[in-house]
Amino acid sequence: MRAPASDLPIVLAAVGVRAGTQDILRDVSLVFQPGAPTAILGPNGAGKSTLIRVAAGLLQPSLGSVTWGGLSAKSLQRRAIVFQRPVMLRRSVAGNLAFALAAAGCPRAHCAAAVERLLARVSLGALHDRPARRLSGGEQQRLALARALAREPEILFLDEPTNNLDPAATKAVEAIIRDADASGIKVVMATHDLGQARRLCGDVVFLANGAVVETAGAADFFSRPRTEKAAAFLRGDIVE
Ligand SMILES: Nc1ncnc2c1ncn2[C@@H]1O[C@H](COP(=O)(O)OP(=O)(O)O)[C@@H](O)[C@H]1O
Ligand SMILES: [Mg+2]
Repeated sequence: MRAPASDLPIVLAAVGVRAGTQDILRDVSLVFQPGAPTAILGPNGAGKSTLIRVAAGLLQPSLGSVTWGGLSAKSLQRRAIVFQRPVMLRRSVAGNLAFALAAAGCPRAHCAAAVERLLARVSLGALHDRPARRLSGGEQQRLALARALAREPEILFLDEPTNNLDPAATKAVEAIIRDADASGIKVVMATHDLGQARRLCGDVVFLANGAVVETAGAADFFSRPRTEKAAAFLRGDIVE
């Protein structure tokens, strides 16, 4: 049988993650399908980052299974992940991107043009030669997104991509996420910015205390949460 040419759907079946005696994720069963971005919502410590790492294949669950496009093997790996605090190489903006492109297997002859194309895509063309570590937080996050896009991912995982960014920088990052979505990339993003989830996402996974409390279409989740925990979270109450 020919292997399917897709990492989607991602299926988590009864996934558990333990660290010592603590259950970080408990009995998580979820499917990530092609389509509009999925928001992973929940209070601090709920397990959002851990869920992203498991779904991206970076962390092996202690219990249960994960498959990508029906396979547990990591052969395809059209996945990219942008962490909360991206780490930049001590190189120029263009140098960081060239490194990412080379790592993604971009042929040398195409690399310079690909750098320019990606920088334009995240509106950093003017900062081509700037040392990446001198960029503002928002610019670094845009460069991190460009590095992720250099992998030509089918799925883009984002962990709190606009944490600590001001509104203008947040808007610029959201524009890149919208553009990625419009180009057919499946976005899965942890955020605790409810407005952002509303603006960008088609469906929601609401986590609390390591467990999935609710999954729903975004419109339903925000207007008619089914659980008291989700309702409390949406009101801004403290949820554990
Ligand atoms: N490697 C680890 N070892 C021990 N505890 C961890 C580890 N990673 C995460 N945790 C704990 O698991 C819980 C969930 O963490 P995390 O997935 O980062 O949540 P979130 O991203 O929703 O804030 C937290 O209580 C955190 O302290
Ligand atoms: Mg987190």
